[in-house]
Amino acid sequence: MQLSLVQADLGAHNTPALALLLPAGTLELTGLAAEADKAAGGVISGLLKQGDFRGKPGEAHVLYAPQAAFERVIVSALGKPEKLTLEHVRDAAGRAAVFARDLGLPSFTLVLPDFVASAEELGRAVGEAILLSQFQFNTYRTKELDDVKELKHVDILAPGLDQDAVRRGLETGAVLAEAIATARRWILHPGHNLTPNDLAEAARKEGEALGLTVTILGKAQLEAQGLRTLLAVGQGSVHEPCLIRLDYRGGGDEAPIAVVGKGVTFDTGGLQIKPGPGMEKMKYDMAGGAAAIAIVLACARLGIKRNVTAVVPAAENMPSGNAIKPSDVVTSYTGLTIEINDTDAEGRLVLADALGYVVKEVKPAWIVDMATLTGSVGVALGKRAMGVMGNDQALVDRFLRVAEHAGERGWQLPMFDEYEENIQSDIADLKNYGGRWGDTVNAATFLQHFVGKTPWLHLDIAGAGWSDTDRGYRPKGPTGTPVRAVVDMILAGG
Ligand code: BES
Ligand code: MN
Ligand code: ZN
Repeated sequence: MQLSLVQADLGAHNTPALALLLPAGTLELTGLAAEADKAAGGVISGLLKQGDFRGKPGEAHVLYAPQAAFERVIVSALGKPEKLTLEHVRDAAGRAAVFARDLGLPSFTLVLPDFVASAEELGRAVGEAILLSQFQFNTYRTKELDDVKELKHVDILAPGLDQDAVRRGLETGAVLAEAIATARRWILHPGHNLTPNDLAEAARKEGEALGLTVTILGKAQLEAQGLRTLLAVGQGSVHEPCLIRLDYRGGGDEAPIAVVGKGVTFDTGGLQIKPGPGMEKMKYDMAGGAAAIAIVLACARLGIKRNVTAVVPAAENMPSGNAIKPSDVVTSYTGLTIEINDTDAEGRLVLADALGYVVKEVKPAWIVDMATLTGSVGVALGKRAMGVMGNDQALVDRFLRVAEHAGERGWQLPMFDEYEENIQSDIADLKNYGGRWGDTVNAATFLQHFVGKTPWLHLDIAGAGWSDTDRGYRPKGPTGTPVRAVVDMILAGG
């Protein structure tokens, strides 16, 4: 889909629909909205006067303007003006785009509001929201493809705003939305079509096209280098595990930022197999890995002046005659021994080796890992906030602020020393599962053993990474969290 900033005279601008974003309580139309109202014979002021526009988030109306150059007006609500944030702009813009598409329109024209934030931020917010809202995945359909509705282009009008700034924002938004779409497609492919090797090859293709250095450690190299916990998780599968690494160097000699993502391409639970109902969702257990790769791709496309390295430990967690058994003890990359008391707590195992490897081989300034790690984080926080933990409070605070602004909320969970007790093993240095109580924190406490003194952020996206509903600019399915938040953190000089 094509997104362009246009300069147009409303009287002569032919478009199937003109979309306006209005806050609740709008009584008086100004600027372009007033002009549009006039050209459309007062249909918009009519809506307001009748009191049919309540302005609640999620509300959208279509009005017809037979005499105007634009054929319709879509009014999408921003909610209460005193509560207005960039997120309301994203929601209203995404909603307008979904509305236009569902009407079967090939295109529409959105009038950018001129309040809330800077021109560049507004451009970016509507750019990403419109494109994210239009994501569809029809790869596996063969029937009724003619019924698929798709917007071909969207024009943006931004009267009174710095046009270069808006254009820059739109471009940033488009890069982020494209990286997220790539991640979403990988996540939606079923496990048999996205094995560890498939993910590695897909990452190689995308990374090399952008001039990144792509390194894939296969089974023999993992053995030679001692990434035994990653190998252990993958040993029950016919699809061998691998470690995917992409290096983007935009920052000269500075220490890189390391972005690590859990890449379990399917999580059956292993011998401690998961219950049948709902297991199909576990194709999504590589969402953190997909996000990590998307982040480095976005950084490269944006030409960010930093060094960023993505590392994804990829494996399939299967039961078999060769699978790990509860009670097996494995020596991790860093040398710590781990008793695997639960084969379904495999994410922390693959991440332990990836984090150890990153600290030693990448020597990053700081690390952020992202993982669909624990069901417990969804129980604690629901679907609208990722769990945020770490060993550096300043880094956590900065991330929480940036993530909120990016529209990807996080909420910090504590990492009190006492939780160490939960992961003490009777026979090894650590065990991987400390029971149901506080599993999200137990898992983070486990990971902390592998990062040493490197500043580290841990994002548990098991809840926030998947949306069960279509809402605003967020279609049902994988959300792409935390791509926008982490790229912003890097952009903000993190
Ligand atoms: N991949 C799961 C966590 C998960 C659950 C992600 C739901 C997304 C949605 C993880 O590997 C896992 O199996 N965790 C277990 C831990 C325990 C039973 C060992 C869990 O959370 O149930
Ligand atoms: Mn599991
Ligand atoms: Zn898992």
